[in-house]
Amino acid sequence: MTARIAVLASGRGSNLQALHAYLERVGGAQIVRVGSDRAESGALGWARDRQIATSTIHGGGNDATTLLEILSESRADFVVLAGYLRLVPPEVVRAYRGRMLNVHPALLPAFGGPGMYGARVHRAVLDSGARLSGPTVHFVDEIYDHGAIISQWPVPVFADDTEAALAARVLRAEHLLLPRVTHLVATGRITLDDTGRVTRAPARGERAAFLLATPEDDVLAESMASAIGA
Ligand code: GRF
Repeated sequence: MTARIAVLASGRGSNLQALHAYLERVGGAQIVRVGSDRAESGALGWARDRQIATSTIHGGGNDATTLLEILSESRADFVVLAGYLRLVPPEVVRAYRGRMLNVHPALLPAFGGPGMYGARVHRAVLDSGARLSGPTVHFVDEIYDHGAIISQWPVPVFADDTEAALAARVLRAEHLLLPRVTHLVATGRITLDDTGRVTRAPARGERAAFLLATPEDDVLAESMASAIGA
């Protein structure tokens, strides 16, 4: 059975595109709808060009009924927040508990929460003096950037980094991590149990979860993919 995924995105949609390309390659899940709180978002335009169904979520995305209608009309099994800047209403979070993922461009639980998005996240990382950053993919709960962490991908922070340089490095890792984690969740290999813990069916040859890798390096990228069981 092919899992049906709805993607919510507020911005340009590069994570959406990376997810789409990966799922086209490996199968098992497909993007059936792209929703956005911004009618002019790059994500919606990209989806329309590919004849993927789209929805503009009016009213700032805070209307649970509208969002639930969009998702159920799409028969979405899973929801991926790929650069979606709105807090998902609690009713929707409950309806998709263990079936809704978010990607955040820093290593949670640090550098997350309300107002921590875009360049602000990377500015905060640089100001903190941290030498590592990287994306986090987590299940969504009722609190911004708070749900159970599924996977993270460390990338180095260099002394002469700008916000833009760090953002670009983290984004490359997002494009590798989000598709793989989404696929594992959508195919039932990663689940959220009743106690709120992430459980994973053991994968053969699984390695330690934290390899210090830059995604430019294909060998290390493959190692990391293997480490997360992809
Ligand atoms: C990404 O950095 C994501 O982690 C953050 O917003 C950005 C979205 O980029 N939440 P894109 O729209 O996927 O290109």
